[in-house]
Amino acid sequence: MEGARLGTPTKVLSMFRKISITLAILAGTTVAASAAGDAKAGADVFKRCAVCHTDDKGGGDGLGPNLFGVVGRKAASRPDFAYSPALKKSGITWNEATLTKWVAGPARVVPGTKMMFAGLSSKKQQADLVAYLATLK
Ligand code: HEC
Repeated sequence: MEGARLGTPTKVLSMFRKISITLAILAGTTVAASAAGDAKAGADVFKRCAVCHTDDKGGGDGLGPNLFGVVGRKAASRPDFAYSPALKKSGITWNEATLTKWVAGPARVVPGTKMMFAGLSSKKQQADLVAYLATLK
């Protein structure tokens, strides 16, 4: 009876193949969109960070450490900044993945951090901001 309603097994099979190809394409698009943030839009989001952070080469530390070259850097490695003990022993290396989590909620990544920032809930803003941070080199 199943076969009669859905068509011959071959047709059903080809239908499933089409559906899974479509799903695979959709999944691919989503991954690409979330991974590749828009650095220009991210520069705008960074205004919220600039209250505490400079981002220029050779810039000084403010309330937070200078973020030039942050991608690839070990957490708490600016020699003159007074980091929290929690961040110092976090063992984090800043990359796209760790920075995305960090900007989404620093205190969830490193309980005891002294970065007083609740976090960005928008996935787009997170991705855009991280894309912007990656240009600081
Ligand atoms: C209210 C001030 C403040 C704001 C706003 C702020 N930060 Fe911070 N940030 C800090 C402080 C303070 C630290 C040091 C944290 C510690 O030692 O635990 C820090 C640390 C960091 C670090 C680790 C740097 C290192 O050298 O290991 C990154 C990355 C960072 N902030 C990114 C951001 C981004 C991106 C934003 C914007 C979404 C932001 N911060 C907003 C104060 C701030």
